[in-house]
Amino acid sequence: MDIKEVDGLTAQALAELAGAADGTALEALRVKYIGRNGMLPGLMQGLKDVPAADKPAMGQALNRFKTGVTAAVAERKAALEAVAKAAKAGAFDLSLPGRWPRRGRLHPIQQLIDRTSAIFRRMGFTVADGPDVETEYYNFDALNTPADHVSRDVQDTFYLPGGLLLRTQTSAVQARYMESRKPPVRIVCPGRCYRRDTTDATHSANFHQIEGLYVDEKVSLADLKGDIDHFARELMGPGVKSRFRTHFFPFTEPSVEVDFSCHMCGGKGCRVCKQSGWIEIMGAGMVDPNVFKLAGYDPEQVTGYAFGMGIERLAMILFGIDDIRRLYENDVRYLAQF
Ligand code: DAH
Repeated sequence: MDIKEVDGLTAQALAELAGAADGTALEALRVKYIGRNGMLPGLMQGLKDVPAADKPAMGQALNRFKTGVTAAVAERKAALEAVAKAAKAGAFDLSLPGRWPRRGRLHPIQQLIDRTSAIFRRMGFTVADGPDVETEYYNFDALNTPADHVSRDVQDTFYLPGGLLLRTQTSAVQARYMESRKPPVRIVCPGRCYRRDTTDATHSANFHQIEGLYVDEKVSLADLKGDIDHFARELMGPGVKSRFRTHFFPFTEPSVEVDFSCHMCGGKGCRVCKQSGWIEIMGAGMVDPNVFKLAGYDPEQVTGYAFGMGIERLAMILFGIDDIRRLYENDVRYLAQF
């Protein structure tokens, strides 16, 4: 054994020690190199056969082996212990680059459902719910809609097997709710609706509405006007007014379409209101006596108003969204703006 070989052995031992995977492997290496029956005592034994002139240098080489291996064992032991301790404490590596936590937010449709519901709740309404899969009865018959009405056409309505359909309007909740409760009634019902519309910038086969129904003794068209005016101000701003245009719905008589004065230009005319100063917001009217009769209410005892509006439309107007499809493409970069 010459000096070179001893130094080579030292290097090999240090490399093996640095790679020791755990305490057991480390201990086995320690025994192998510097244990009582390991390599070091054998090498020391051989020193006496080295020529006298080479002895000092060989002694130094053996010393490098001994101190090097001893230090490496201690170093590796400390390192393994530190890793075990960190793992136990759940510590993490501060030098790693951070991961940016993305903050969630409500979809614009949900924001508007919450906002509109909250306005009506403050006016004494409660929030009611109904199924998306409806019967033809609640979606049409109970709402005084004649058998030959266009909205019943298979081109407009998604029919399901067994006399069921996907509700085309949240008005279906009105009939359900009244049937199981006595007046007075004051509810809003937000929810999904479905129509066989071809998707374009302003139409979607799946959209949302919020419905309102107020039934009591002596509810009048003036109540409807006053409550809608209040809603208009709460939703769009203090200066916003509403106007009624006569219209027809099977379930209300009289029926109106409701416009709000444009919140952008204050009614002077702009791009948002297409220069008219008004924006169409909802359908409404006084509940038809036939609807009351079908629900088991006496139209001589109670009167009521109802209204319904599209949430997507509100979102587009309030957030300035130009294409309804943007709301459903789920591009988080786009939706996160609202
Ligand atoms: N259901 C109607 C629609 O989808 C909206 C509507 C109009 C609801 C008048 C009502 C109402 O409650 O009274 O177009």
